[in-house]
Amino acid sequence: MSLTQKIVILFSGEGSNMEAIIRSLHKKEFEGFQVHVVATLTNNPNAKGIERSKELGIPCEVIDHRAFESREAFDAALAQAILAHRPNLTVLAGFMRILSPLFLRQIRAINIHPSLLPLFKGGNAMQESYLSPMKVAGVSVHYVSEELDSGDLIAQEAVGKIEGESFEEFKARLHSLEHRLYPEAILRVLKEKVTL
Ligand code: GAR
Repeated sequence: MSLTQKIVILFSGEGSNMEAIIRSLHKKEFEGFQVHVVATLTNNPNAKGIERSKELGIPCEVIDHRAFESREAFDAALAQAILAHRPNLTVLAGFMRILSPLFLRQIRAINIHPSLLPLFKGGNAMQESYLSPMKVAGVSVHYVSEELDSGDLIAQEAVGKIEGESFEEFKARLHSLEHRLYPEAILRVLKEKVTL
C-alpha cells in the first residue's frame, strides 16, 4: 500500500492554480505515494475559487480575515484550521496575505509567484515584469519565509517576451506556465520528504 501525502491549498481569488494542482495531483499515484488535496481554504468570502473547489469535489473553508482584530489572531485561526487536516505540505496558490512568524513556525508552506524572483516581488509582479525592459519573464516557486516573496527557491522557469504581445496574452502564457510548474514543484517537495 502506498503512502498518502496530504496537502492543503490556500487561495484568495480565481483559484486557477488551485484547480490545476487538484486536476494534476489529487488522488493520483506517484512513485510510492498518493497525493490527497484534503482541503482548500480562502480568506475571501467572494473568491471565485470557492465554487471551483466545490465543483472539483474538495470542500472549501472560508476564514474571513476581516472578522479578526489582528493579523496574529487571523493567522492563529488559519494555522489551527490547516493543522486540523494534518497536511504534509501547505500550498499557497494566489493567497494574498502576508503570514506572520507565528504562522510560519507551525506550518511548512510553499508559494508561487509570477516573476523571476528576486525580481518584482509583491502584488503587482506580472504588470511590472510585462512593463520592464527585460527580454524574459517567468515564474518562481519558493518556500514561504517571513519576508514577502523571499524564501528559498524550489523551481523557476523563464519564458521569452514576445514583441507586440498584449498584457492579457502575456498573463495567459504565464498562467499556463504556472499550471504546469506548480504541480511539478509540489511533487518534488513531497518526494524529498518521502525519502527522508
Ligand atoms: C498567480 O499568478 C500567482 O502567481 C499570483 O497570484 C495569481 C493567482 O492566480 N501570486 C502572487 O502574486 C503571490 N505574490 P489564481 O488565483 O488564478 O491561481
